[in-house]
Amino acid sequence: MESSLDAAARCLLEARYAIALTGAGLSVESGIPPFRGPNGLWTKYGEPPMNGYERFLADPRKAWEERLSPSGPMRELWQALSGAEPNPGHRALAELEDMDIVRATITQNVDNLHRVAGSRRLLEIHGNATLIRCIQCITRFERDEIDYAMLPPRCPRCDGLLKSDTVSFGEPIPTDVLTACGEEADHADCMIVAGTSATVYPAAAFPIAIAERGGDLIEVNPYPSELTALCRVTLTGPAGEVLPALVERIRALK
Ligand code: APR
Repeated sequence: MESSLDAAARCLLEARYAIALTGAGLSVESGIPPFRGPNGLWTKYGEPPMNGYERFLADPRKAWEERLSPSGPMRELWQALSGAEPNPGHRALAELEDMDIVRATITQNVDNLHRVAGSRRLLEIHGNATLIRCIQCITRFERDEIDYAMLPPRCPRCDGLLKSDTVSFGEPIPTDVLTACGEEADHADCMIVAGTSATVYPAAAFPIAIAERGGDLIEVNPYPSELTALCRVTLTGPAGEVLPALVERIRALK
């Protein structure tokens, strides 16, 4: 681990433009289960139907009733989210941003923990569970800004249909965040890939494009992922321990 931490720290210090991509593994140490692997929600309950968005559009009222009183995996996920706090892994990434080492963080997580930890240039590619989004004008609202007396709730700005900002299976990623992610990934010559199995697209395509351009990938994961073979450095361990150690190493080398 010592030499890998050194190698990762040097990669980041020498990078022209480094960014981070994170997944559910980042929040495991905050008490939120991952989706895949031994303790994964989908492993426990089975993969969810891939037509979540179609079903939302077909009956938005029913979808909202399910959203407001969830069952099965979604109930377990929302319960875990409601009490979760950022862990040292989230804080380390915010620190690397403050040190101008990481220029942006793309997260697949909807748990708002990067935002609470202080990440500023944060791109939530699968949305944020604390926000409500209009599917017509893409305006996002804080949950408590919306009146749920009538379901489905309508957009106060354009009267469009409102849904949770979290991106449902089968739903196109909102163009504003997808474009911003693409721009950051196109710019980057180095990426920290932490806590993701890298099996879900389009997020998994960003590190592959960076590696294909000759950029460096630094993986943080206790287990191998779809990307391990493409990584310049692999830091095997929990993000909440490895990322703070990486910050310390960079400070020592700076
Ligand atoms: N620290 C770092 N990584 C960890 C930790 C930890 N403490 N614990 C587990 N991991 C790793 C696992 O080894 C796995 O590679 O985190 C990864 C979690 O993978 P997934 O559960 O597949 O989560 P993710 O990659 O974020 O899934 C992508 O799939 O279901 C959809 O929308 C959902 O955003 C999600 C997307």
